[in-house]
Amino acid sequence: MDRNFAMEFVRVTEAAALESARLMGRGDENLADHAAVEAMRKMLSSINFDGTVVIGEGERDEAPMLYIGEKVGKGDGPRLDLALDPLEGTTICAKGGNNSLSVIAIAEEGNFLHAPDTYMNKIAVGPWAKGLISLTASPTENLNKIARAKRCDVEDLTVVILDRPRNADLIAEVRTAGARIWFIGDGDVSAAIATAKPDSGVDVLMGSGGAPEGVIAAAALRCMGGDFQGQLIFRKEDEKERARKMGITNFDRIYEIDDLARGNVMFCATGVTQGTFLNGVRFFSGGAKTQSVVMRSESGTIRYIEADHHFHLKPRY
Ligand code: FBP
Repeated sequence: MDRNFAMEFVRVTEAAALESARLMGRGDENLADHAAVEAMRKMLSSINFDGTVVIGEGERDEAPMLYIGEKVGKGDGPRLDLALDPLEGTTICAKGGNNSLSVIAIAEEGNFLHAPDTYMNKIAVGPWAKGLISLTASPTENLNKIARAKRCDVEDLTVVILDRPRNADLIAEVRTAGARIWFIGDGDVSAAIATAKPDSGVDVLMGSGGAPEGVIAAAALRCMGGDFQGQLIFRKEDEKERARKMGITNFDRIYEIDDLARGNVMFCATGVTQGTFLNGVRFFSGGAKTQSVVMRSESGTIRYIEADHHFHLKPRY
């Protein structure tokens, strides 16, 4: 994959972040999401590649743009698959909270898991604990291994968990094990990435979140040398049916990081609202400042890009 694509794709997440950040705190999730989707799609259509959305806004009948299977790009370059979320954390943005992002991961054709829109049990860690985590082990066993790898006590670890009733058993076990918990209301992609960022204050992400977000997080952690495992959770038969249509037959499978995002992967994200990992969009007279990250699994390079956008030169924003 041409490394220069990274710069092309960061413009895409910047555009989506700039548009949705305008709507921060309005209390309207759909409006913010729609703004991000439109901007992302428009920007994608200016890039020379033959793209297919693998993880997107939903199935064709429920999402008019950036739906699963949609062809994007100018169509005349390399064939690439995209796992994207124009606004990860729509509620966060609508409420003016922390850690909403615009994200896009890129891989050569066929390298992302076609994940259905179900929940996924997840565990994510940074490079320090790579190879040590397992969803077949209990949360306590995982915490003990992570603590050993980090040369600290379990009590020193911070576990990020989505604050949901369905994570209640996990929360109880983590409390018994003695680790600290950082509850998040939304946005587990940003939390998964934070596990691989030194000094983020986050050691591990655990628990059930969205499966599509799991693929996106796995792509980011591939670039950062971290680790991730995920297991799909099916609540109803129709969810299994949707998974079957996407080629999934083993419903109990535990997906390793490379099963979710294989080969050479690129990842770009731009902060929408202020975050642990990236600053949010800051508007100034006639423009705005964005902070983005661009990463490639092949080189392991992680670039932070601060950009000043001047609206009189780029009236689209
Ligand atoms: P959206 O951006 O689609 O609103 O997703 C936000 C999010 O919090 C994800 O980060 C997370 O994986 C998922 O929703 C959890 O789903 P639910 O809110 O149904 O528990």
